[in-house]
Amino acid sequence: MSEIKAVVKGVGHCLPKRVVTNAELAKTVDTSDEWIVERTGIRQRHIAGDNEFTSDLGTEAAREALKNAGISTDDVDLIVVATTTPDFTFPSTATMIQENLGIRHGAAFDIQAVCSGFIYAMKVVNSMIKTGAAKTAIVIGAETFSRILDWEDRTTCVLFGDGAGAFVVQAEEGGNNGVLATFIRSDGRYKDLLHVDGGPSRTQTVGHVHMIGNQVFRHAVKDIAQAMESCAERAGLRIADLDWFVPHQANQRILDGVAKRLGINADQVISTVAKHANTSAASVPLAMYAAIQDGRIKRDDLVMLEAFGGGFTWGATLLRY
Ligand code: UT7
Repeated sequence: MSEIKAVVKGVGHCLPKRVVTNAELAKTVDTSDEWIVERTGIRQRHIAGDNEFTSDLGTEAAREALKNAGISTDDVDLIVVATTTPDFTFPSTATMIQENLGIRHGAAFDIQAVCSGFIYAMKVVNSMIKTGAAKTAIVIGAETFSRILDWEDRTTCVLFGDGAGAFVVQAEEGGNNGVLATFIRSDGRYKDLLHVDGGPSRTQTVGHVHMIGNQVFRHAVKDIAQAMESCAERAGLRIADLDWFVPHQANQRILDGVAKRLGINADQVISTVAKHANTSAASVPLAMYAAIQDGRIKRDDLVMLEAFGGGFTWGATLLRY
């Protein structure tokens, strides 16, 4: 029997309508468009409305991914949602999206690995597809990070945005396309550098994001580069073989730093950080969506996804699209 691969059949997205520019933020916190653009590359972010929730964004992204894949909800037997900002403590956002899509079969669950959540979800879904535990999955990264920001803390509130992205991933046997390698890592020593100070068990509140940004930055560049090299190695490939680099969108300087370290050309780097800011688990599928829509990423291209986030958690996914 030939090898089963998890193939990305369609990609979808959802961004809240409301756009908040740097200039708008500078009216309420002590910051400036110049500082934000120079230090991060961010120019604007989308922010969810009062009645717009993580499950709503995830559902829209999933619908569009199914439409682009030409796959019916009848075929979906797995939904995995990466989120740090679920609608509720429970039920999972994944089961809420399952219900919104009218799916009455299969299984749905959430994964929590903060900004690396989508990469972790791809690892789990790839494993389930390869072992035959699932055939057609929707992998979603969905966040309303704006709900856990302290809007008076300029060191964090300017960095994040809301949104969702989704992949429909299906088992295929014997082809060249699909996930070629996955790599995930974590190290709990660094929780104080990036964390939220609330939660159901400790405080019975959702809390706010806190980050020692410059220290996170140093770890991110080094660990992402290593993850990508390890991931390529697992597939018997080299970084030089990549067509596209689709990174987590935390900071343009991190993207540039990783690309420089690994010798990747700037025009191979997909960047949405200027328009979306950091949408945590949603950022990788949102960037992939943007580059497919504008015609850069095409079928058969070799694409490296990566992310780094709270925990610390980090990882990479190598796929032939
Ligand atoms: O997705 C999860 C992973 N997250 C990341 O990877 C984020 C990684 N970190 C970063 O992207 C960057 O470290 C930041 C964008 C967060 C900060 O940039 P930086 O160049 O590392 O600046 P810094 O933290 O060293 O701060 C420099 C100065 C400080 O002032 P002093 O102490 O030098 O007087 C900050 O208080 O910039 C100040 N500052 C600001 N000034 C204007 C911090 N935030 C702001 C702000 N506007 N919004």
